[in-house]
Parts: sequence; C-alpha cells; structure tokens
Amino acid sequence: MAQMCRKWIKREKFVGFPKRENLEIVEESLPPLEDGEILLEAVYLSVDPYMRYGRVYNRKDKDRDDIGLEMPGTQIARVIQSKNPKYDVNDLVLAYSGWVTHSISNGEKGIHKVPVNGSLPPSTRLGIIGMPGATAYFGLLDICKPIKEGETLLVNAAAGAVGSAVGQIGKIKGMRVVGFAGSDEKVTYLKSLGFDAAYNYKTVPSLEAAIKESCPNGVDVFFDNVGGDFFGTVLPLMNKKGRVAICGAIAEYNRKEPLSQTCPINHLILRKQLNVRGFIILDWVDDWDKAFSNMIFWIQDGDLKYRETVFTGFDKMFDAFMSLFEGTNIGKIIVKI
Ligand SMILES: NC(=O)c1ccc[n+]([C@@H]2O[C@H](COP(=O)([O-])OP(=O)(O)OC[C@H]3O[C@@H](n4cnc5c(N)ncnc54)[C@H](OP(=O)(O)O)[C@@H]3O)[C@@H](O)[C@H]2O)c1
Repeated sequence: MAQMCRKWIKREKFVGFPKRENLEIVEESLPPLEDGEILLEAVYLSVDPYMRYGRVYNRKDKDRDDIGLEMPGTQIARVIQSKNPKYDVNDLVLAYSGWVTHSISNGEKGIHKVPVNGSLPPSTRLGIIGMPGATAYFGLLDICKPIKEGETLLVNAAAGAVGSAVGQIGKIKGMRVVGFAGSDEKVTYLKSLGFDAAYNYKTVPSLEAAIKESCPNGVDVFFDNVGGDFFGTVLPLMNKKGRVAICGAIAEYNRKEPLSQTCPINHLILRKQLNVRGFIILDWVDDWDKAFSNMIFWIQDGDLKYRETVFTGFDKMFDAFMSLFEGTNIGKIIVKI
C-alpha cells in the first residue's frame, strides 16, 4: 500500500509576522521505493528562525519566494523501509526533508545517520549538538575569539537555543557573561546557568542603563542574535577593538516599517576599531563534528546545559514556529510527532 505523507505547503508570501493562512497542510501518497532509496518517518522536527525566509534567503529572485513548496527544515527520522544496503529499518537519520511526516531519500544528499543509543537523546541533534549548537560554538570561538579571561561577553535572545549555549561556552572560556532575554522566567534560567548578570529587556527602564550597570568595564564581545535597535544600543558601549558577531537579526525578520537609526554606526566601528562580522554556520559544516565532541564532553561534565521546549503533533508546527517570534520558548524548540 502506498505510504501517505502530510506536508506543510507555503501558499502565500509572509508579510510581516507569518500567518496560519499563509500555509496549508496537504496529504499525498508517495511512490514505491526504487533501488537505493529509503522511506523516512519523522520523529522530531525542528523549527528555526531562518524558515521565515526559507530557501530564498540567499537567492536574487526573492519575489518568487517558496510558494507551492513545503516549508524547509531538518528532522530526525526513522527509516521505515530500505532498498539501500547502507540503511536498515529502524535506523535514525538527520534529514533535510522539510515540514513533512514522510519522505523518500536516496540516502546520500542532506542526510546523516544518528546513533540510536547515543550518549544524548536524538532530538539534541536538532539543538545543542546540531545546527544551533554549532552556531554558538563557532560564532563565539571563531568569530568573537575570546582573548583573555575576564573579558565581558554580552548576548541577547540569551535563553534561546543559540544564546543559552553562547553564554555557557563564554563561561567555560572564563568570560564575564551578561544575558538579555524577554521574560523573568528566562532571567531566572540564565542565572541558573551561571550567567553573571541577566535582564528582562522588556521590563528594564533603560536598556542602555542595564548594559552600563552590568558591564562597568564596557563590552568586549557582543554576540548579536537580535539586531535592530538592540544592536544600535550596544555598539556605543563596546570597548576598543571589541568583536561583534552578527549571528541573527530576529527583531528585523518580521518588520514592515524601517528601523530607527540610533547611532552613527560606521563612525563608531571605525573609531573603536571594532571587528563586526556576519556569519552563516553552514560555512563550518565540515568541522561541526569536532565541535560536538567538545560539547558532549562539556555536557557530560555539567558545564553545558540545554533545555528543549517540546510541542507534540505535526499539526503544531506553525504554533512552534511562531513561538520563536513570540519568545515563548526556552532553549531549542522541538516538535515531537
Ligand atoms: N548565523 C547563523 O548561521 C545562524 C544559525 C542559527 C540561528 N541564527 C540566528 O540566531 C538567533 C537565535 O536563533 P535560535 O534558533 O537560537 O532561536 P531562539 O533564540 O531559540 O528563539 C528566538 C528568540 O528570539 C527572541 N526574539 C524574538 N523576537 C524578538 C524581537 N523582536 N526582539 C528581541 N528578541 C526577539 C525571543 O526571545 P526573547 O524572549 O529573549 O525575546 C525568542 O525566544 C536568530 O536570530 C537566528 O536567526 C543564525
């Protein structure tokens, strides 16, 4: 009998915040497997901020968008049928299959085996020892290059998948770590992770005053997940020869109106001789496994902790996705089927 598959298809371009009616769940039957192919059943799916842009993030013809295609994304899937000698039924894989319940793969492109009884649960391959964990690791260590112990690191969206790992890796490297996040619960969480100071940026009377209070010697390293006015507020408070990793700009992804210009940015970067660098983690993909070996060691030692916010059911994909922009998650968002 043919395998049925459910997919989230993008029907309309996102304008401002994504809306449920921009997407549609469709059902279709998959063809029989050919030699060399495997049939995958999703177990855990990831939602990540880049999905706001989908596959067109780097494309010139942005107006075409991803209309008619399934939402992109990575999942942990179980092999439920195999005509490929490299894969057995019940193997687990990390696959770039999109928001789908079932898919067919040739077992080669965009797919990696995941240990069934690894030292950490398979869902962590979507988070702490997956793309977000690698982003924290290389963004901090390669882009920001902590130089000496006691340097001050400031990170925003600090209780999220990337930010919570950035702050803890900063502590492992002997930095003084200050985090900003959007709720009191997140602030308590950051303090439990060992952050030296943490603030709810939504309730502080002045973001600038909170940064000055928590970073009395200035900011040496700024790991920016948020962009927008947050970036403009931190930049004047950077120390000379400070390093800024432009990891994300989630405050800008759904914005319709132009940003306010809060500081003469070019002049500040020049005068303070800042190193400001944007990066995309796929450039480090060949080195991810090396990072994960270190990170697993830190996790086992108790120096690196992680949390997951789990949604249950394929129908919850959109709610899970929107919680990235509503800020209701702590740690990595996972959708469990
Ligand atoms: N460069 C790369 O290769 C790369 C790779 C992965 C991720 N990223 C970027 O890294 C950032 C974090 O990603 P993640 O997967 O770890 O997500 P996440 O931090 O787990 O979730 C997103 C968080 O962003 C915060 N946020 C949402 N809208 C905001 C706004 N308007 N202003 C301020 N904060 C807002 C919310 O936390 P609060 O409650 O604190 O507001 C929310 O929980 C994103 O910008 C993402 O695009 C970049």
